[in-house]
Amino acid sequence: MATRLIDLSPSDMQQRLGDALAVYVDAMRYPRGTEDQRASMWLEHIRRHGWKAVAAVEVSGDPTDADHLPARAPLLGIAYGYCGAPDQWWQQQVISGLRRNGADADRISELMSSYFELTELHIHPRAQGHGLGEALIRRLLQDRTERQVLLSTPEINGEANRAWRLYRRLGFTDVIREYHFAGDPRAFAILGRPLPLT
Ligand SMILES: CC(C)(COP(=O)(O)OP(=O)(O)OC[C@H]1O[C@@H](n2cnc3c(N)ncnc32)[C@H](O)[C@@H]1OP(=O)(O)O)[C@@H](O)C(=O)NCCC(=O)NCCS
Repeated sequence: MATRLIDLSPSDMQQRLGDALAVYVDAMRYPRGTEDQRASMWLEHIRRHGWKAVAAVEVSGDPTDADHLPARAPLLGIAYGYCGAPDQWWQQQVISGLRRNGADADRISELMSSYFELTELHIHPRAQGHGLGEALIRRLLQDRTERQVLLSTPEINGEANRAWRLYRRLGFTDVIREYHFAGDPRAFAILGRPLPLT
């Protein structure tokens, strides 16, 4: 399978939103229909400060011909994020988790004052296990000016899945474990690492 990594502009993302959400639902093995609940949120995220999105597409023939996103090139992977800010629900949730764990104001400020939130990273199941996820993260985090990158990922017994292996391989360490975001019964880990990613 010939693949190519590309940056998505805000309008690319709007145009390919349905495809990107389909990759997300298939990768996470969520029930069909989850896309509809997430669409408005993903669109709202585009307007956030420092938003950046990258994608992996399947290209046919000579991959070097595809200099921009071909209108119908199948989307194999999507990743995006933005600069964390105090008015964001996610940051408020993480701060309350840190406080509950006894973090003091200095620790909270050190973590929250300059970070890129890696919000979504998904590779379609038929393209997983070929290094595309790592390649997308590396492209997304290139040239970021924030001090660190933070993300949340579902807790998995023994950290035994590709997402955990990828984050550990890239040097992500624990910020909060077994965290329950408001309204979600699942436990999540908040992980982070300094930038740049080397
Ligand atoms: C987590 C996820 C993004 C990782 O992306 P990926 O492309 O599947 O995996 P990676 O980029 O880490 O690639 C590593 C695998 O590719 C293999 N690989 C093959 N060629 C490679 C290359 N050139 N470079 C690196 N890895 C390569 C590695 O051996 C490794 O295989 P293994 O995991 O079986 O040991 C993807 O599996 C996914 O979308 N999973 C479901 C959704 C999800 O969990 N998202 C994250 C939620 S927070």
